[in-house]
Amino acid sequence: MKFYFPEDFLWGTACSACQIEAASSADGKGENVWDHYSKVRPESFLGTSPDDCADFYHHYKEDIRLMKEMGMKIFRFSISWARIFPNGPENINQKGIDYYNDLINTFQENGIRLMLDLFHCDLPMWVIDRGGIKCRDFIDWFTSYAKVCFEKFGDRVMLWSTVNEPSLNVFAAYNSAFTAPYERDLKSAILASHNMLIAHFRAVKLYHSMNLGGKIGAVNYIGPYYTKTLDPKDEEAAMRGFANHSGWWLEPMMTGHYPENIVHYPRYADNMPENYAKELSSEFAKMDFIGINYYNPFFAVNNDEAPLGFSGYEDDTLPIDEYGFRHYPAGLFDTVIFLKERYGNPEMYITENGLSVKREKFEEPTPTNDTQRIKYMRDHIRSVSRCIEAGANLKGYMNWTIMDTYEGHAGYTCDFGLIQVDFVTKKRTPRDSYYYYQDIIKHNSVN
Ligand code: NOJ
Repeated sequence: MKFYFPEDFLWGTACSACQIEAASSADGKGENVWDHYSKVRPESFLGTSPDDCADFYHHYKEDIRLMKEMGMKIFRFSISWARIFPNGPENINQKGIDYYNDLINTFQENGIRLMLDLFHCDLPMWVIDRGGIKCRDFIDWFTSYAKVCFEKFGDRVMLWSTVNEPSLNVFAAYNSAFTAPYERDLKSAILASHNMLIAHFRAVKLYHSMNLGGKIGAVNYIGPYYTKTLDPKDEEAAMRGFANHSGWWLEPMMTGHYPENIVHYPRYADNMPENYAKELSSEFAKMDFIGINYYNPFFAVNNDEAPLGFSGYEDDTLPIDEYGFRHYPAGLFDTVIFLKERYGNPEMYITENGLSVKREKFEEPTPTNDTQRIKYMRDHIRSVSRCIEAGANLKGYMNWTIMDTYEGHAGYTCDFGLIQVDFVTKKRTPRDSYYYYQDIIKHNSVN
């Protein structure tokens, strides 16, 4: 069996600044939420520090060489906001600009294109100190940061993403204390999400007005919502599950409206900011592509007693990895086809998909012989090919991730890397999956 890909298909990997850079105070960088809370709430980070990670900040030349040797066409990465604006929206840190200029140039010299995220987990601490995302000023802070990035780097960046997984990094940060600012308040979560959406629209509008030749979108954690029966009530419940998760972001980002099937439930209606619908539609600017982080499917059934009329459940028949993700490669296909139908076949990228193997000890990376990861990749990449075969406008696949990372709240326990990193010596060693991926890219096909 062989699955082929279009000539211009973008094979890549994805990663983020705060998970591989380290150098948390180098060259004038300000503190971000992971730097800060890993010190003051060590229990939320398994007692670890982001400073012990791969140190991509100093090793990027060597790492980009390995990426090039693998044949990678695109790298999805993020800019650390606190390197550009260390202590407030007033002062730009020139050294931060210089650093990312060097980095971007090195990618360019090596023929690797970039997708850059503006906000991937690492909010600067000054944003939190001045009121966080739920503060209305956030919209201006974010837009001026985006403007600087577009002006300084935009001539060499193919794709931009405003935000990564806002369902977790914004909504759940305020509603279930998933990350900073560790609030548990639904109204705050809804307000922060609304501000993030307006900030996203402003950045999209601004980017389009600058005519830099690239595209702008956002990256969401998305999976298909399945249900137990063929009863339309269950089907509708599953759609409410989708709307309450990635749909809360995707619907506004693609249509300018909050999901109509849930926004009138009291859980939302009683907590929405004033004039939310009018503001959302008047600020709306359609993004150019959807970034899909696909790890697992979701399940929901009708439940008239539940606040949004559905309850989630687990399908125990699917294999589960040590990270807690249930594997279902066909779910990648279903997700892409669902988005194709729902939003008129927009440009799409798989912006994350990958397998974590548990690292038991910080000093002992998981082996380079990673057959399990290879199988995972094969099965998911076959699904990618089927999406294209079915006519989906899917332009690229980015594996999570190029090298072992810092997982924030899970510390150093999750090795996702195609390249093994010894965090003590910083030695890099490609795993078998690195060579497997190299082969897929070289032949532009998977068996
Ligand atoms: C999604 C996030 O974007 C990324 O930061 C994280 O490391 C992976 N998922 C794995 O959990």
